[in-house]
Amino acid sequence: MPATQEKAVLITLFGGTGDLAQRKLYPALFRLFKKGYLRQHFAVIGTARREWSDAYYREIVMQSIASLSDDETEKEEFSSHFYYLSHNVQNTQEYQQLKELASELDKKYQTQQNRVFYLAMAPQFFGTITEHLKTQHLLTEQGFNRLIIEKPFGHNLESAIELNDQLAQTFEETQIYRIDHYLGKEMVQNINAIRFSNIFFEPLWNNKFVDNVQITLSEEVGVGTRAGYYDTSGGALLDMVQNHIFQILSLLIMEPPVQMDGNDVRQEKIKALRSLRAYSPEDVKQNFVRAQYTQSEELLGYLQEDGVVEHSRTETYVAGKLMVDNFRWAGVPFYIRTGKRLANKNTVIHIQFRSVDVNLFHSPTQVDILPDVLTIHIQPSQGMSFNINVKQMGLSNDIERKPLLHYVSPEQEKDIPEAYERLILECLNGNNANFAHRQEVELSWKFIDLVRSAWDNDTSSDLPTYPAGSHGPKEGDDLLARDGFSWHSCDTIYCPNE
Ligand code: BG6
Repeated sequence: MPATQEKAVLITLFGGTGDLAQRKLYPALFRLFKKGYLRQHFAVIGTARREWSDAYYREIVMQSIASLSDDETEKEEFSSHFYYLSHNVQNTQEYQQLKELASELDKKYQTQQNRVFYLAMAPQFFGTITEHLKTQHLLTEQGFNRLIIEKPFGHNLESAIELNDQLAQTFEETQIYRIDHYLGKEMVQNINAIRFSNIFFEPLWNNKFVDNVQITLSEEVGVGTRAGYYDTSGGALLDMVQNHIFQILSLLIMEPPVQMDGNDVRQEKIKALRSLRAYSPEDVKQNFVRAQYTQSEELLGYLQEDGVVEHSRTETYVAGKLMVDNFRWAGVPFYIRTGKRLANKNTVIHIQFRSVDVNLFHSPTQVDILPDVLTIHIQPSQGMSFNINVKQMGLSNDIERKPLLHYVSPEQEKDIPEAYERLILECLNGNNANFAHRQEVELSWKFIDLVRSAWDNDTSSDLPTYPAGSHGPKEGDDLLARDGFSWHSCDTIYCPNE
């Protein structure tokens, strides 16, 4: 690794004792350290309310990276860059200590006064923290100052605007890195590459050739220990649709950017989200389905989970049909769905193309030619298949479906950077293309609020249910059947490991 790749930075992590830091952030930083992106010129200040010593903090860091290397010296060297400061984010005086430690570490590690402030904690503190960073002069003059925040970015449009306005008091929009970890996934990042570096997809990527698009983010896990939070914070619509699904959708529908940089890509995504058709309460009823999982033989139902209020109507499953009212996409339905406690973990996109106008291959055994489908597997398998029609080998003239494949092999999988590793590095490089712009967040809330309020005002309809571990409610299938479509599954397209 040439020395120029190495980043100089001081990272101040609010929420340093938390679950996200230990599960995701320390391992991600360690991987960057192993690859040489972080080496000598970095330091991390972890802060939280608890009274921890540097030594204890380093032990925690060591534990969270334990499985990532057998080289104890390397792990110790890495953790020696970590410092801990007990800190109450609401106490103005305490920011002085933070400032002093930051200046000391700037000098010790020659971080060129580059600073990243990572808020891995409850969003109600974001405003207070960023305000103090400014008024207590923790931002530097010479180096860069960047802010990384985690979802939820508000709980509706109004609170999102309020939050974004608070952040804007201290940071320019280009300095704010709103993490959506789906944008750090290998195959999500591949969407642009597939679309814009092949001659044959982009000309077909429109309503003349695409029949429908299906985005599925299904999860096998239930709400687990987060049940209390999930139940009060707004269910699957807020947990998965407003952020992850809308980010994937905007990448699929956006126009080609002039360049693949943060400014151009984000402007195209904003334009794309502006084209979403707004729904009336009646439209929501027609085009959106919510449901909740119920007890099955081996699995608890949502209402039995610890922390869920009695008779809760919080949805653990959402399916919807979205329409994009612009020249490229008018008339093409985009179907989305996500749910917890479904049969399997599967994150997948299907682009279903129109069928050929004339079928020259009628035969007694085969009446219809299946449409071509481009499938992008995001996880657990990573790769893509283009499911097309070919002649069956041999004497028959029948057509059969075969996939053109590109998949990551199990050996290659271990070399794929984890989402946080990739996104933190992109932030250190000042590349914000894979981070949500405030307008993206606000436009998605604008749509989501319509669905939420239609649902909240409808307290009389029964909430559909599905048995835990199943493929979801029948209503989710009906949504497509009404339009003459069905969700693709391994029966209709290639599935790896089947
Ligand atoms: C998070 C949601 O954003 O994404 C969780 O809050 C969900 O409820 C998780 O389980 C899914 O992420 P991944 O990377 O496992 O698909």
